[in-house]
This record gives sequence, structure tokens and C-alpha cells, in this order.
Amino acid sequence: MSWTALGSAMTGCTACPELAAARTTVVVGEAPRGARLALVGEAPGAQEDLAGRPFVGKAGQLLDVLLAEAGLDRDAVAVVNVLKCRPPGNRAPKRPEIERCRPWLDRQLDLIAPELVVALGLTSVGWFLGRGVRLGASRGVVHEVGGRRVLATYHPSAAIRFGPRGAPMAALREDLAHAARLLGG
Ligand code: URA
Repeated sequence: MSWTALGSAMTGCTACPELAAARTTVVVGEAPRGARLALVGEAPGAQEDLAGRPFVGKAGQLLDVLLAEAGLDRDAVAVVNVLKCRPPGNRAPKRPEIERCRPWLDRQLDLIAPELVVALGLTSVGWFLGRGVRLGASRGVVHEVGGRRVLATYHPSAAIRFGPRGAPMAALREDLAHAARLLGG
């Protein structure tokens, strides 16, 4: 199945009735041809739900800055989420929602076939490494998961929450630079 066909199938998904009823758009994500890096976030927020694009709100703006600092061009990077629909009121994704949405992300990653995945935040890190992992303990090394190479790091929202001098900002910056080095950039 092509990326476009997969995206069309996703937009008709009603596996999570609460999310399907509340959403404006299904945020499929973006996958430039030949992307070597895939960023995996948690779920669309209000802005993403309206725009139909991932990471366009505050967290996305910070992500763009940090990617550029690391020498990574957002336009060449795939950006997807664990959930494709916005949880109402920006609540955290529920476990059954994550599991119902899992096959979509799985197929997306198969199609993108990135050399490296960066999992942003605990929901995404848990998607790859299993629930109960701790971010502090799982970052800094490449995890091999089902044939995928995964770096775990903080979500840009956490970096915003803890401020420019907070540990999550420093870690996210460092981990994106690590990703760039692994890709030979
Ligand atoms: N947060 C996410 O995890 N994903 C987005 O697309 C936007 C905000």
C-alpha cells in the first residue's frame, strides 16, 4: 500500500468513537520521500487537529528550531504521531486508543523505513520500548526494536514546560544532535 492510500484509509478510521466524533481532521503525518529520520510524537493537539499537519503548534515551533540547530532539515524528516486523532481537551491518550492506532504507525514506519526513529516523549518511547520505561534511563543509546533503530528523548512540550534552562530542553537538544551524528550529519 502506498503512503497516500494508507493516509486515505486512516482518514476513515472510526476505531475510537470518542476521538472520531471530536476530531476535525485525522493527522496522518508527513513523510518526505527518502526520509532517513522519523520523529514520532504523541498525538495531535488543537492546532494540528485544525491544520491537519503534525507539530505545527508551540511544540512544533520549538521542534523546528531545535532540528535546525542540529542541522536537520524538517522538510526532509518524517513526522508522525502515535495517535492520529486529537484526544479531546488535550487529555493524554488512553491505552486502548494507543493499541487500536498501533497498526497505522506500524505500517507508516514500514513504508518510511527510516534509518533512525526519534521517539518524542513517554507515550512514544513506551510505544517502542514498552510501558513502564523511564525516559531518563532510556535516552542516550540506540535501541533496536523489531528491526528499527530508536532514540528516546523528551517531548518538546516538556521542554517548554520546564523552560529554556530545564533538563528536558538540554536533553532534547543533545538527543537531536546525537540523531544528526548517527545519520552522518
Ligand atoms: N504534540 C505531539 O505529540 N504531536 C503533534 O503533532 C503536536 C503536538
